[in-house]
Amino acid sequence: MSDYVVRVLEEDEKHAAQTVFRGSLHHPPSTDEEWEHAADGYPARRSFGAFRSGRIVGSAQSFGSAMVVPGGKVLPLAAVSRVGVRADHTRRGVLTELMSAQLRQLRELDEPLAALHATESVIYGRFGYGVATRGRTVEAESTRGRTLPPMPSSGEIRLLEPDEMMTVLPGLYERIGLRRPGMMARPESWWRMVVQRRLSLKEHLTVAVHSGPDGDDGFVAYQTSVTPPSEDRTLTVQDLHGTSLGVVLDLWRFLLGVDLVRSVSAWLRPLDEPVELIVPNRGECRTTALGEETWLRLVDVPAALAARSYGDADPVVVEVHDRFLPENAGSYRVGPEGVERTDARADLELPVDALAMLYLGDVSASVLATTGRLTAHDPDALLRADRLFTTGAPPWSGTFF
Ligand SMILES: CC(C)(COP(=O)(O)OP(=O)(O)OC[C@H]1O[C@@H](n2cnc3c(N)ncnc32)[C@H](O)[C@@H]1OP(=O)(O)O)[C@@H](O)C(=O)NCCC(=O)NCCS
Repeated sequence: MSDYVVRVLEEDEKHAAQTVFRGSLHHPPSTDEEWEHAADGYPARRSFGAFRSGRIVGSAQSFGSAMVVPGGKVLPLAAVSRVGVRADHTRRGVLTELMSAQLRQLRELDEPLAALHATESVIYGRFGYGVATRGRTVEAESTRGRTLPPMPSSGEIRLLEPDEMMTVLPGLYERIGLRRPGMMARPESWWRMVVQRRLSLKEHLTVAVHSGPDGDDGFVAYQTSVTPPSEDRTLTVQDLHGTSLGVVLDLWRFLLGVDLVRSVSAWLRPLDEPVELIVPNRGECRTTALGEETWLRLVDVPAALAARSYGDADPVVVEVHDRFLPENAGSYRVGPEGVERTDARADLELPVDALAMLYLGDVSASVLATTGRLTAHDPDALLRADRLFTTGAPPWSGTFF
């Protein structure tokens, strides 16, 4: 029997849970003022603690959101975060117990998807999470007075006053909509934790809004910094969304022209955002990192498979293995007409973490087979699966939590 008790946190245990989480990331405990804003990150009934001899040594929580999947359906999503175990209790199965309790709870809550951002790639595959969206860090030189190549402009840009940010941004994000597979809804608490917190703690945050013929249709939030001894100022994009690529690139053009800035840096941008094509020379825009963005967990495999759309190909029978949620295990016939459980012989076989990589269209079945993450019993079925699961553009979330 385990020495640890894992259970939902009481209200008065949450600050201690946050101290454990922050400590696991080598951060000091929050001040009372910081905790006021961080408390939103521990929703009632969804925040778990692991206790040893009555003392909290591990934490994991989730908040309710929603994610759009290929074809446009929006599914309930658990956004998992605040995962940490005290350094003197790691590698004893504490996270395993927290993850098991949380996955069980998400099944009960009928949330077919869970997602998180991982500090290290070794942690979550064993719990059935797979990398489902990726992003790139883009660094582009500012124009510093030079003219950018012409581009059709789609509107105008204005800066928000700080007291406008919380009234304008949540509605604007909703208006922009979940435009590509992997994007997620942002509950009010997300805005309070990310924007209101920065404003209250007097962090300098600038927000520019783009307006087109139909009104506000995009925004960028950014901060700038200087790293001594250099006096060069870098502008770092925190959040950038628009209703179309034209709007997004208009916002990039604005950023590239902000005065007293040498370079613009943006992390976890979509892989297909063509910033290179709007700077004077392609070499002035570089991808400095490319990596995992969303780790996705199909908590309810049949519901998740049935919710997305599929390309035009004959069905394939996919056998899924799931150690943590055995009710997901089994074979599914997947085709453009729908998805059903079947006893038929499997064409393809894969663990649930690899299914997450395939699900939003980030990686093809063929690539998963070649890299040993999927077993193809029928090579022809592999080609059909490529056509069924393919999507038009790389999936992307664009929301950090
Ligand atoms: C990541 C973390 C939560 C793991 O907690 P834990 O209680 O040690 O995890 P478990 O003991 O349940 O580990 C389960 C398995 O994962 C492996 N594992 C877990 N975290 C690992 C890590 N960071 N590096 C290597 N292996 C890891 C364990 O070795 C174990 O493997 P096994 O089943 O083959 O024995 C903990 O190390 C931690 O708090 N790290 C710092 C904060 C952090 O990165 N949090 C994650 C935020 S996304």
